[in-house]
Amino acid sequence: MTPSDYEFLRKLLKERSGLDLSSDKQYLVESRLIPLARRTGLPGLAELVARLRGGADPLTAEVVEAMTTNETFFFRDKIPFDHLSATIFPALVQARANRRALRIWCAASSTGQEPYSIAMSVKEFAGLTGWRVEIVATDLSQAVLEKSKAGIFSQFEVQRGLPIQKLVKYFTQAGELWQLNADIRAMVQHRQLNLLQDFSHLGTFDVIFCRNVLIYFDHDTKVGIFDRLARVLEPDGVLALGAAETVIGITDAFKPYPDKRGLYRPSPARTAATMPALKLVAGAR
Ligand SMILES: C[S@@+](CC[C@H](N)C(=O)[O-])C[C@H]1O[C@@H](n2cnc3c(N)ncnc32)[C@H](O)[C@@H]1O
Repeated sequence: MTPSDYEFLRKLLKERSGLDLSSDKQYLVESRLIPLARRTGLPGLAELVARLRGGADPLTAEVVEAMTTNETFFFRDKIPFDHLSATIFPALVQARANRRALRIWCAASSTGQEPYSIAMSVKEFAGLTGWRVEIVATDLSQAVLEKSKAGIFSQFEVQRGLPIQKLVKYFTQAGELWQLNADIRAMVQHRQLNLLQDFSHLGTFDVIFCRNVLIYFDHDTKVGIFDRLARVLEPDGVLALGAAETVIGITDAFKPYPDKRGLYRPSPARTAATMPALKLVAGAR
């Protein structure tokens, strides 16, 4: 790949998805995009870049999707899900006793293991029985959202992080595949959403999981996303980040949740309550 083609792709990916590729990731770009070029009937990467340089082309979205990393698994890192059941849900059940409704956003939800892990946690939390709990799963990639909606997972996927009791309780086996039962699938709404763009139309949330996506972005992109996340999180809401992610040194919009690694609270001056100019959608608060 020529240096100029690589620079073109780096800039395109940064603008479209936030992906911040360092100058030495040619191998990654080649390994993801040469197969895409061939599938599209193009001889190689040079021809693919020439098409993209030509301007508006549906191939651009495919290139952006091909460069996303969709690695995920059920109950990833375990601790955030333990916190959900032991700390977050009990506190919110008390705080929302009159409303009996919760909104949870799983941003960058990939193929569904994370939002469905949240759904299973909700289902098993007795204090939420009879509550209206909305779980909104969003991702940039339409392909992963389609897989998530189907709720069908391979033997390998269900063996990663999912306790056997939950497999038996919530899935139905179909040959070598496992499908999540309809009641759990129905708990999750899917929407395509790019975190670089405005997301105020989603309304406000009590819990936001935004895990293992910010690691791909540069400092300024993270600052902007944290700022906008703080505006859609309730003042007593909780943000969960991935194990390799933090707000420290990046933003003062959130503060670490005392003694709970990976969890953050909005800083009082930066929350939805102090930023009333949010557009709300039907069904959202
Ligand atoms: C590594 S996966 C993380 C999945 C899940 N959150 C977890 O922790 O297991 C990252 C996901 O972020 C999505 N993604 C990447 N850039 C994005 C963007 N700008 N907006 C929304 N989603 C994005 C990718 O499509 C991918 O599904």
